[in-house]
Amino acid sequence: MSNQSQRITVPAFRAMKQAGRKISVLTAYDFPTARLLDEAGIEGILVGDSMSMVVQGHSTTLPVTLDEMIYHAEMVGRAVQQALVIVDMPFPTTHLGHHQAIAAAGRILKETRCQAVKLEGGAAQAEVIAALTAAGIPVMAHVGLRPQNVHQMGGYRVQRDEQQLLTDAQAAEQAGAFSIVLECVPAAIAAKITSALAIPTIGIGAGPDCDGQVLVVHDLLGLTSGYVPKFVRPYADLKGLVHQAVSQFRDDVRQGTFPSVDETFR
Ligand code: KIV
Repeated sequence: MSNQSQRITVPAFRAMKQAGRKISVLTAYDFPTARLLDEAGIEGILVGDSMSMVVQGHSTTLPVTLDEMIYHAEMVGRAVQQALVIVDMPFPTTHLGHHQAIAAAGRILKETRCQAVKLEGGAAQAEVIAALTAAGIPVMAHVGLRPQNVHQMGGYRVQRDEQQLLTDAQAAEQAGAFSIVLECVPAAIAAKITSALAIPTIGIGAGPDCDGQVLVVHDLLGLTSGYVPKFVRPYADLKGLVHQAVSQFRDDVRQGTFPSVDETFR
């Protein structure tokens, strides 16, 4: 059992902005990864619906279901002792009226030991954000590029409509969101939004002036095959390491040099 008193809370997350302390957030979708991130002192762990692409191999975030999000969030919730754990509300759970949104988010909090949900949208989702917040469910909003909207947006593009972005961010804050992800927003606009809000902005492709930064952990570790966005800094090349280790094992098996005497029971 984790000790809840050691956990980073929603108010603590907000207080970090007031204290001028930058917030690091990474995604995780399973127990061992979540445990490693938590041990490293990451403040926020997001069970993102990016799982649909990164783990399940789909081409968008749309296919992942609520049951699948809960299944993975439960593993993450069980691993984490300190970080604030936030779970994405999958498409289309936030578009079916606020009763259904509360039912979906309520299941996430009841079944996973995670502390908050994230939903895509600002002004258009203000009612849902307010209803969830009133039900005691902390909400992180997500403004800018909203991957669940990929078909409507016509692709994954940088979002440049400053007035709309500011309106969305302020509407989310007024509705009760405790934090906002800003995705693929020019740095100067993200900086203006960040200084206009009392709640922390967590940027992904939104420049250095956000209150925190989030990345998909597979991108950070160099595990992603194919396209990697410009805003990603790969801090490791685990794909290279895995290829190397697996090829070495294959060769050792073929040559009969694995297992050795020391690796064998007598
Ligand atoms: O689903 C996700 O991983 C996200 C982050 C990239 C912010 O929404």
